[in-house]
Amino acid sequence: MTTVAVLGTGRMGTALTKLLTETSATVWWSSRHPEGVAQRHFSWANPVTFCTYQDALQADVIIPALWYHDLMDWIADKTDPLSGKILVDITNPFNAAFDDLTLECHTSAAEEIQARLPATFVVGCFKNTFWSVLEDPRFEEPISDVFVTSDHAAAKSRVLALFQPLPFRFLDAGGLRNNRIIERMTVLARELAIRYDHYPRVAYRLWGR
Ligand SMILES: NC(=O)c1ccc[n+]([C@@H]2O[C@H](COP(=O)([O-])OP(=O)(O)OC[C@H]3O[C@@H](n4cnc5c(N)ncnc54)[C@H](OP(=O)(O)O)[C@@H]3O)[C@@H](O)[C@H]2O)c1
Repeated sequence: MTTVAVLGTGRMGTALTKLLTETSATVWWSSRHPEGVAQRHFSWANPVTFCTYQDALQADVIIPALWYHDLMDWIADKTDPLSGKILVDITNPFNAAFDDLTLECHTSAAEEIQARLPATFVVGCFKNTFWSVLEDPRFEEPISDVFVTSDHAAAKSRVLALFQPLPFRFLDAGGLRNNRIIERMTVLARELAIRYDHYPRVAYRLWGR
């Protein structure tokens, strides 16, 4: 059985952990303050194990639900412990105003993380899925798309299989390079959603498939 560790108890971390309890995975939930989280009451599909970020390094699949700069700080000395692991990257490197990214167009958060962790299998996922859609994925229209990217085919297949029971349509969106576009699609989705007074309940769906 696959052990998945979600890092962080913010909006995305909480919604992702809850969703993962609906899969066959063993779910660990990590916080800088795991004792505090364990005292909160969760009535989810299956129980989760609370742990530290250090403990999370033992999981097969690690999903940091942290901001990009905090994630880069966290991985700075973790090249060895993260070697051979699958790391699912959900980050968008937003600027302080949330109207652009801090990285130039010729790279992406996913590629920067992969470059920093050459022996880790980085899989990009959920970058365009706002937390309120993760919490409540079903729209009146068909389910929304989640673009899944990686430069490692086996890791991408494993993540696609892991998430398959969840109420999203997961699309194989190619290599990590495509996150240069995918991460910017989140900037656009946010601006459109605010303009049409629907933030943050918007999501992408590619028609015609
Ligand atoms: N919000 C969205 O709709 C959305 C959509 C797609 C992707 N994303 C991406 O998902 C990631 C998380 O977003 P979010 O909205 O869930 O953020 P958030 O609510 O602010 O949660 C971030 C979590 O990071 C953890 N953390 C670890 N180190 C930290 C530090 N040094 N300072 C502060 N927090 C630290 C904290 O959890 P503990 O206190 O438990 O350690 C905190 O709750 C971001 O990279 C974002 O780009 C977000």
